[in-house]
Amino acid sequence: MEHEKEEHEETTIEEIKANYSRVALDHATNPRNMGDMQGANGFASLKGQCGDTIKIWLKIDNGVITDATFTTDGCHNAIASCSMVAELASGKSVIESKNIEQQDILDALGGLPEEGEHCATLAAKTLKAAIEDYLRRQIKSQ
Ligand code: FES
Repeated sequence: MEHEKEEHEETTIEEIKANYSRVALDHATNPRNMGDMQGANGFASLKGQCGDTIKIWLKIDNGVITDATFTTDGCHNAIASCSMVAELASGKSVIESKNIEQQDILDALGGLPEEGEHCATLAAKTLKAAIEDYLRRQIKSQ
């Protein structure tokens, strides 16, 4: 019984490896910038149609994203997408980062399995919402 379970787990890991690019696998299993952030000046929390939530925190200085972190209760596609979107946004201006779309995340990850593509959409939308939150705060403080 135990042997069967081990075989099943091995198959699953092999299946995962077969369906993911090296980059996507790396970001899914070793995510960058995971965790909440103290002192963020942009934040958004969005729930996708799958029922999972992505939260993104941004630290923005003079219109440039100096730090981006995330948490998610979603799948490993969401973890890989968030890890990549945080990397893509870091060091870019808010204007450039607002243009990061699902396809940019997928391209940077070397693709995701089809069932995981909506997770990249949720990551891109959450980043945009966090930037909008920052912009709203700027307007309020003027
Ligand atoms: Fe819900 Fe990936 S985030 S299925």
